[in-house]
Amino acid sequence: MAGLIDLVERLTTPHPLDRYLELVHPTFTLRDMRAEITHVRRGTVGSVTLTLRPNRRWAGHLAGQYVQLGVVIDGVRHTRCYSPVNAQGRRDRHIELTIKAHPGGLVSNYLHEEAIPGMVVDLAPAAGVFHLPEQRPEHVLLISGGSGITPGLSMLRTLANESYQGRVLFLHYNRSPEWVPHRTELEAIAMQHGNIQVEFRYPELGTDPNFGYDELERLAPWFASAQTYLCGPGGLMKAVRTVYEAEQLVDRLHTEEFTLTAAPADSADVEGDVTFSGSAVTTANTGASLLEQAEAAGLTPEYGCRMGICFSCTAVKRSGCTRNMRTGELDADPDQPIQICISAPVGDVDIAI
Ligand SMILES: Cc1cc2nc3c(=O)[nH]c(=O)nc-3n(C[C@H](O)[C@H](O)[C@H](O)COP(=O)(O)OP(=O)(O)OC[C@H]3O[C@@H](n4cnc5c(N)ncnc54)[C@H](O)[C@@H]3O)c2cc1C
Ligand code: FES
Repeated sequence: MAGLIDLVERLTTPHPLDRYLELVHPTFTLRDMRAEITHVRRGTVGSVTLTLRPNRRWAGHLAGQYVQLGVVIDGVRHTRCYSPVNAQGRRDRHIELTIKAHPGGLVSNYLHEEAIPGMVVDLAPAAGVFHLPEQRPEHVLLISGGSGITPGLSMLRTLANESYQGRVLFLHYNRSPEWVPHRTELEAIAMQHGNIQVEFRYPELGTDPNFGYDELERLAPWFASAQTYLCGPGGLMKAVRTVYEAEQLVDRLHTEEFTLTAAPADSADVEGDVTFSGSAVTTANTGASLLEQAEAAGLTPEYGCRMGICFSCTAVKRSGCTRNMRTGELDADPDQPIQICISAPVGDVDIAI
């Protein structure tokens, strides 16, 4: 099949075959992965849930993984990562995404306001190591906060579909009940499965405590024998990590963040100039990531996850030294492709943007 496609593409040069097929229907592509939005639900405060029908290139996801979704807004293509909330191995191959409208966020607000059935979006294959292992753990603890509910929801639905027999606690933190997407369904899953417990906590309402050891021990005294999957805002991530570190259980804690938590820059590194030589712009180094410094200078480099996962932001560093904001590693090699969302300049840097 691939050989035949190559042959036909040689005949249709200079345009790839997909450019002709998409004239018939935007999802009729052989190489590009696309999906058509079939349903849009806006029932929960602050988020929208989209059902997508992907084309034949979609190979499914493992519960907890994410996809990259691309949309064109005002003529510019933007990609962002979203974690499907449906169970893995869904028979009709549809994908369900729940997207929180991020204050000031471009793509999330666009989808929140503009998504309608029939709209076609670009997709990349599911990726990420944050997923249920093939050999299901003895017990599973799913902790999430805010929009971080999505990968855990896919895991919970998958375990429920499989009639998983271990204990499951789904512990979710949010502002108030109306902000929790899929809340009624989560409660229904707990009602139907005696081994699954679903708990919601609303610390901002003043009625519930924040995450802590006592709460964990009370809800899931078996937590030390479980694998724990955690996704949420920085404060929750830190609180859970602190407990697991104290209990020497970090090897049982699996985490995913939707935004970058970077160590603050060493003030000695914050010197020199950043030159965006592709745009003939030079600014004083502020110590922020090269992506943020480019944006502050009025440039609009491409990005997706803003946290070193998707490689959408890769650009060539012509000269100078950069620090990887996640690992602290320094890179002084010239003419290297780097991820500008997680690279901070250390002194003078020239980047081909
Ligand atoms: C693995 C992964 C899975 C994810 N899964 C989900 C999910 O299931 N559901 C979900 O709702 N979200 C998810 N996200 C988050 C999602 O990818 C987006 O980050 C989110 O939707 C915001 O995108 P946006 O385009 O609306 O915001 P953006 O426009 O990208 O803005 C987001 C933030 O970036 C910064 N920023 C943007 N532009 C500038 C600028 N010009 N200058 C300085 N700072 C700027 C600001 O801090 C802003 O608040 C996931 C992220 C990752 C990494
Ligand atoms: S934006 Fe995803 S790696 Fe930089």
